[in-house]
Amino acid sequence: MAKVEYVSIPSMKEARNRVDLCERYVDHVEVPELVKRFAVGKKFYIKTFGCQANIRDEEVMAGYLTMAGFVRTEDPRSADLAIINTCAVRENAEDKVYGEIGSFKINRTNNPQFLLCVCGCMMQEEGKAEFLEKTYPYVSLVFGTHNVHRLLAMLNDVLKKDKNIVNVLSFPGEVVEGLPSVRLNDYEAFVNISYGCDKFCTYCIVPYTRGRERSRKMEDIVAECRTLVEAGYKQITLLGQNVNSYGLDFHDGTTFAKLLAAVAELGIPRLRFLTSYPSQFTDEMIETMAKYDNIQKWLHFPVQSGSSSCLKRMGRRYTREEYLEIVARIRAKMPDIALTTDIIVGFPNETEEEFADTLSLAEEVSYSAAFTFIYSPRGGTPAARLVDGVSDETKHERFMRLVRVIEKTTGAHSAAMVGKTFDVLVEGPSKKNSKILSGYAENGKLINFAGPSYLTGCIIPVKVTESKTYSLRGELAEDPLVSKARDIAYLMSLDPILGESKRLIDALSAPEYRKLGEEYAAAKVALAKSLGNEEEHRLAKERFAAIQTKLRNDPILANESELTGPTKAALNEIKDILQ
Ligand code: SAH
Ligand code: SF4
Ligand code: F3S
Repeated sequence: MAKVEYVSIPSMKEARNRVDLCERYVDHVEVPELVKRFAVGKKFYIKTFGCQANIRDEEVMAGYLTMAGFVRTEDPRSADLAIINTCAVRENAEDKVYGEIGSFKINRTNNPQFLLCVCGCMMQEEGKAEFLEKTYPYVSLVFGTHNVHRLLAMLNDVLKKDKNIVNVLSFPGEVVEGLPSVRLNDYEAFVNISYGCDKFCTYCIVPYTRGRERSRKMEDIVAECRTLVEAGYKQITLLGQNVNSYGLDFHDGTTFAKLLAAVAELGIPRLRFLTSYPSQFTDEMIETMAKYDNIQKWLHFPVQSGSSSCLKRMGRRYTREEYLEIVARIRAKMPDIALTTDIIVGFPNETEEEFADTLSLAEEVSYSAAFTFIYSPRGGTPAARLVDGVSDETKHERFMRLVRVIEKTTGAHSAAMVGKTFDVLVEGPSKKNSKILSGYAENGKLINFAGPSYLTGCIIPVKVTESKTYSLRGELAEDPLVSKARDIAYLMSLDPILGESKRLIDALSAPEYRKLGEEYAAAKVALAKSLGNEEEHRLAKERFAAIQTKLRNDPILANESELTGPTKAALNEIKDILQ
């Protein structure tokens, strides 16, 4: 039997604590010598379940492991170090984890040095770590959501002590900056704006697994986003369990709308955010979304239930009427916005009337897509203690009725797109057919179309030709080489030197500069022609001198002496053209 050291195990009671205390610091990553030596020539593999919060944690863990010298592999069987990043939100998410852990037994059999780590939300639940260590003794390290940034130090402990280690913390959580990361691709990025959740919806385990809600400082978020824009990313998704309460913990007037505007101003082509809490969606938010073209006109707006009494039992802080009123305000300002949602069916003792309210709300709002879930009791949450009188059969039957309504509204939205052209951010070739690309339109709809793989990561126009309800078929609406050229021109404009000359070219091709150039040329000709006529020559010289002064005093041309290299050359070329 493998030896296990329990450094810390989670407690749901402690996880429920909300103290107004949040430690913030910058992590200065140091790779322990032992880990560095171990990593030489070794490969790591990460399998992530759950939401974007977990995906972002995967990117951070990949950052630490890459710094240590490990190389990534997508083949689990060839891995020397594997991490399974778990989700606890519903029972079926957990069932998949056990199968995954089991599949790594063979790695250990073939390679005694193989290390298996299990982390994420499920490990924050009481009893899970102990169960894993008893059932799967080849799990070398178990940690939670609060100590991802301690990954290398924990691996060092495992290697040094030659024991399995369990280290899961239940505390309000910290905000750690300076995290390394290897992002999943170079065109769309997730940026955490806050961690944790304080809403405690009665069915939900997230407030226990992710701790107290705590915001990252606005300047840190904006700096991270600026780096992404400069690196050529096309899309940023700001992440928080409830983005609308962002910054309220600073008590200084910071709001999510202000952060959103600051990020939009950076000029990222596409900006989105997840997830919104309906009753905290303010008019300031609506104004900000409407104001910036680069903020996607798509809003994920989880309702959970269409019945006020059910919402009350769920601990959601709005009624059906309030939700509909907010939706009406949003649509008044942005009539074409796409709304998507999450709905739970079969919350304990949900009545037929309550469920009928959910159906009618889904129809009334006419969601363009929805995630529907059957309620899954989560140990330690208030709803899990309720005695439920509704049978599984009824829940399944209701679930199917809801799916049919969603299918209808989703299908209607998709059908309305046929024949129109949409800007699509290309995700790459589809898994089934490498000649077919897929990408998301601004309204969050997936479109498949034939095209060359070099368009991956570009935003291109695609004409929708056919609706498949949940996805669409389309065709390229312009020559792919033109799309690619535009993408390259955009990336070049981000280069500090090339970007500056582009700005100059743009500025100097404005009508007033063209006019100035024409005036300058005309004055020069007049000067030459006036030679021989003293009076005319005097006037021509004056006109020429006046234009020269105007050019010298021009804010753009006057600064040219500060310019160097290619920018200076570009400017000279432009001046030649103007003259
Ligand atoms: N913070 C986000 C996401 C939370 S988890 C939000 O508030 O929307 C994502 C979705 O999972 C939730 O919106 C909810 O619909 C669903 N969910 C959460 N707990 C669940 C449970 N116990 N059973 C079934 N679905 C659940
Ligand atoms: Fe869970 Fe509610 Fe928090 Fe969303 S807002 S994470 S559903 S507790
Ligand atoms: Fe799952 Fe944790 Fe996200 S429970 S949904 S991975 S916050």
